[in-house]
Amino acid sequence: MTDLEAITRRAIDDWVDEPGALLPILHAIQDQLGYIPPSSVPRIARALNMTRADVHGVMSFYHEFRSEPAGRHVLQICGAEACQARGCRELEAHTQQRLGVGYHQTTLDGDITLEQVYCLGNCATGPSVRLDDRIIGRVTPQRMDRLLDDIATVPLTIQPAGGEG
Ligand code: FES
Repeated sequence: MTDLEAITRRAIDDWVDEPGALLPILHAIQDQLGYIPPSSVPRIARALNMTRADVHGVMSFYHEFRSEPAGRHVLQICGAEACQARGCRELEAHTQQRLGVGYHQTTLDGDITLEQVYCLGNCATGPSVRLDDRIIGRVTPQRMDRLLDDIATVPLTIQPAGGEG
């Protein structure tokens, strides 16, 4: 049994007898893997006596569920009302153009997954974004460029310099 299968099996076993089991199962799998593998969907559907379309329907309704692994960084732009009033539409158009991806897509180099979210709890200082675990307010298109430049220029892992001392 692969890790994916084992994680899916455990999530199902933990929740299958609970009412409304689908969401906790999906969360349990995504918490561990970062996404819901396509091969998990028929297993979940069978266990809950649902169709695959039912499971896919719930996954696409709740945008936080991914059906493929995220990039090295996840960039979320808030599209809720307060951020709309502060210019998030311009910000999202600028960001999508700069990255060459739409929402829920990952840049070709695997660096950044772009997602839309509805409220990051930072409404007073919108437009707000979350970059990995960091919530950032007052993000103009220019500031977004700087954030993206920083991601591109900071090495993700620092390699130790050659072994000689
Ligand atoms: S509306 Fe954007 S953070 Fe709340």
